[in-house]
Amino acid sequence: MSFAGKVVLVTGASSGIGREAAQDFAKHGAVLAISGRDKDGLNSTELECRKNGAKDVLQIQAEFSNQKEVESVVDRVVEKYNRLDILINNAGAWRPGSLVTSTVEDFDTLFAVNVKSMFILTQKAMPYLVESKGNIVNVSSIAGLHAFDGAFVYSMTKAAVDQFTKLVARECAPKGVRVNSVNPASVNTNITRSIEIEGDLDAFQERRAQAHPIGRMGTTQEVSKAILFLASDDSAWTTGSIFVLDGGRCLTVK
Ligand SMILES: NC(=O)c1ccc[n+]([C@@H]2O[C@H](COP(=O)([O-])OP(=O)(O)OC[C@H]3O[C@@H](n4cnc5c(N)ncnc54)[C@H](OP(=O)(O)O)[C@@H]3O)[C@@H](O)[C@H]2O)c1
Repeated sequence: MSFAGKVVLVTGASSGIGREAAQDFAKHGAVLAISGRDKDGLNSTELECRKNGAKDVLQIQAEFSNQKEVESVVDRVVEKYNRLDILINNAGAWRPGSLVTSTVEDFDTLFAVNVKSMFILTQKAMPYLVESKGNIVNVSSIAGLHAFDGAFVYSMTKAAVDQFTKLVARECAPKGVRVNSVNPASVNTNITRSIEIEGDLDAFQERRAQAHPIGRMGTTQEVSKAILFLASDDSAWTTGSIFVLDGGRCLTVK
């Protein structure tokens, strides 16, 4: 698998899955553009990418609930590199809640960060991806596929992401651009660590691990490998695919 000379934009690369994917693309020869809000996080990711061989890394600090900031991201990548080959729409926010406890502010923020930003970035990126015969990987979740308790609005956003993946894949396949998603179950990142629980944290983590038939949560490395596969020529015949990585979690949905 080679991404030599490819320009890859990874959103939400200041931590977690996005950081891991940026590092892995660097290992395989890509030049990177990485976005996030946390400057220290972006600095750490840039350092790791450079250690892993990236010749160039462009940092873009942007708040994705702000339309203007999102709109500038692709322009900045193309100003620097004159092209774009791969877009990894990974940035995402999570909030707990049910129908009753979720607020309209939760709804507006999560749809802005998880869905609207993806729509804007994809629209802006598409002319460059058509030119490079590039591709997109969206980071979704199994929360978009099943009605799990606890993250009502988040789950709605991920269902929207999955339909977005299919629609863009269908529209853009004739133009030579592939679009796929990865849909993980629980992965140990800031998002899963931010879930507040009452009682014993270790017992909660063990219950969460055991909810996956394989008996553990996933790792950022496992998700990153799937992202790189879908972004590579090894998956040249794959588009519109919703790729579930879940340790068997979906098999246990009643
Ligand atoms: N962890 C899981 O169990 C899991 C499972 C399924 C799907 N996912 C999805 O995986 C993706 C990556 O999440 P992660 O698990 O790696 O968690 P993470 O470490 O918290 O990463 C989230 C990334 O998104 C960025 N982000 C969040 N809100 C943002 C905003 N308002 N504006 C701009 N950037 C923002 C964060 O940047 P800053 O920190 O710099 O703000 C960070 O780089 C998300 O789309 C998430 O829904 C995660």
